[in-house]
Amino acid sequence: MKRIVIFASGSGSNAENIISFFSEKPQAEVVAVLTNKSSAKVLERCDRMGVPGFYFNKPAFRESDAVLRLLKGLEADLVVLAGFLWKVPCYLIEAFPNKIINIHPALLPKYGGKGMYGDRVHQAVKENQETETGITIHYVNENYDEGAIIFQAKTKVDPSDTPETIAQKVHQLEYEHFPKVIEKVLS
Ligand code: GAR
Repeated sequence: MKRIVIFASGSGSNAENIISFFSEKPQAEVVAVLTNKSSAKVLERCDRMGVPGFYFNKPAFRESDAVLRLLKGLEADLVVLAGFLWKVPCYLIEAFPNKIINIHPALLPKYGGKGMYGDRVHQAVKENQETETGITIHYVNENYDEGAIIFQAKTKVDPSDTPETIAQKVHQLEYEHFPKVIEKVLS
């Protein structure tokens, strides 16, 4: 049984979707969710779903090996960033080579980089009158949103779309594809 650890900073609707997906699969399970925000809604979801949730702060993440020790203790096979907003430090990338993946709510390399996350991405897509957007699932390297791309899926943006409706379309793509891509990466 492969062991997935999710990192999430906010609502955690992707985390919940991934936990549900793998709860019915024999080959992998989500063993924990780690968050950098003690008030994140994702922790409520974890409680409800019976998955342990852990909080860490910035010094623990950047200046200690606490998170590394936690991941080793959890025997993580794959780390999945699902709405996690901090840059992953090099020591973690080196400890888990090609074992950390991220989802980004746009078609990278467009709309990536520092400060480009969540609704900010959808606002920029709207402002630039894009006719399509989508999701990118990629390996994590030392730069924001620059690791090798594993999977992309597109959706149309209509002139009547708002940042909110674009976000809904993108979330639908995330819910549909992210668990299946994780399953493939683990196989
Ligand atoms: C998702 O749309 C994810 O792609 C995005 O944050 C959202 C989290 O939603 N991630 C980024 O922007 C990373 N740069 P959720 O908390 O409901 O899963």
